[in-house]
Amino acid sequence: MHSEVNPWSSNQTVDVDRLFAEFGIEPISEVARRLPEVPSFMRRGIVVGHRDYNLVADAIQKRTPFHVLTGFMPSGLPHLGHLMVMKEVVWHVRQGGNGYVAVADREAHAVRGISWEKCREYGKEYLKALYALGFEGTTYYQSKNERLKDLAFEASTKVNFSEMSAIYGFGPDTSLSHAVSVITQVADILFPQLDAGPAPTVVPVGLDQDPHIRLTRDVAYKLRLFTVEDRGDHISVRSKNAPEAALEAVHRAFPGSKKYAGHVDVTGLPQEQVEDAVRKIEIAHGGFGFYLPSSTYHIFMPGLQGGKMSSSVPESLFGFYEPDKSVRKKVMGAMTGGRMTLEEQQRLGGEPDACSVYLLNLFHMLEDDVELADLRRRCESGELTCGQCKKETYERVQAFLVELRDKMDSVEHLAEEV
Ligand code: TRP
Ligand code: SF4
Repeated sequence: MHSEVNPWSSNQTVDVDRLFAEFGIEPISEVARRLPEVPSFMRRGIVVGHRDYNLVADAIQKRTPFHVLTGFMPSGLPHLGHLMVMKEVVWHVRQGGNGYVAVADREAHAVRGISWEKCREYGKEYLKALYALGFEGTTYYQSKNERLKDLAFEASTKVNFSEMSAIYGFGPDTSLSHAVSVITQVADILFPQLDAGPAPTVVPVGLDQDPHIRLTRDVAYKLRLFTVEDRGDHISVRSKNAPEAALEAVHRAFPGSKKYAGHVDVTGLPQEQVEDAVRKIEIAHGGFGFYLPSSTYHIFMPGLQGGKMSSSVPESLFGFYEPDKSVRKKVMGAMTGGRMTLEEQQRLGGEPDACSVYLLNLFHMLEDDVELADLRRRCESGELTCGQCKKETYERVQAFLVELRDKMDSVEHLAEEV
């Protein structure tokens, strides 16, 4: 890890550590080292944690199937704040993942009251941006995906209201449609495995989205008919909800295995091989054979103005089709880590870690590590003034947007075919 390009203030680090300790999220660094190519968002400490990403790293390494998915709520036009997840999905597709993207129109309609017409209009812009960034795979609108809705219903048989209130604070006044959109998101996360078969699945999300991941892992586990456990001298295949015929099929699939009430013990085979066979038997008997979904967690880029990046604060971000003049104004007006006077800046240098302009480069505008390190050096040595730095950054932003818009225009047909 290049700790010199680590972006967060000490405050954020405390939060990240607390989340790790409390919820069992693992730091990404160890598993990242095993990847054939470490993406910049991992090298630069933007993606900080994961759950079960080992499964996905293995699949990337061994070129075996895996899925990657995310969803976007079409409550407005896509913007700078959506770029990280889009890049993470595209990167995983390039590593061999089956890509899936949900347009969460049910959620936008339920939670934000967005009309179906607007959902469609905004949804198309997200899809255009994704395809422009190089996405390949399956996309859908939640409201139009019948198998997704059936899966959501099935998932809902495994969740009760006390869990909804414990996880999301739902109370007596919460609309039922909120619960439906939560369970629809659970279905989004499991959908690739229903559509293309069980395989490790990664969901790149922000740290705040972990409750959805935990709920989905819980549901995926509850929907399994069997568990497969390594007991040292044998592998134990235990029935959770399996019909007797399925347990019998497991017994028959492994010559020499022993069948007991509710479980079959298998000897002499690697766990993975037993798991694969059990998944197939499970599916043949009406189950799903889901892998528990994996996730990666990224920190958030702060807003350009220095506070939170949010579509409710227009100066905190820019949209992909925002007029140049307006984008320029926001970048040139961004909060920097510069000093009060030019003299001080030259003597003390700037503070890149506290600078939203630096972070804009670190997150998105400078792909090359050498160039980023050079920016950092010029800032810290006082060689660079913030005015000059913002100007250079804006030029990168503009070049990026020109290219992105161009591509978005040219892939419009792909976004319409959904
Ligand atoms: N709830 C997410 C949001 O508010 C959108 C979403 C829907 C999603 N389905 C998903 C995110 C599946 C990740 C995976 O932005
Ligand atoms: Fe930020 Fe650039 Fe100023 Fe350094 S020189 S504080 S990176 S704007």
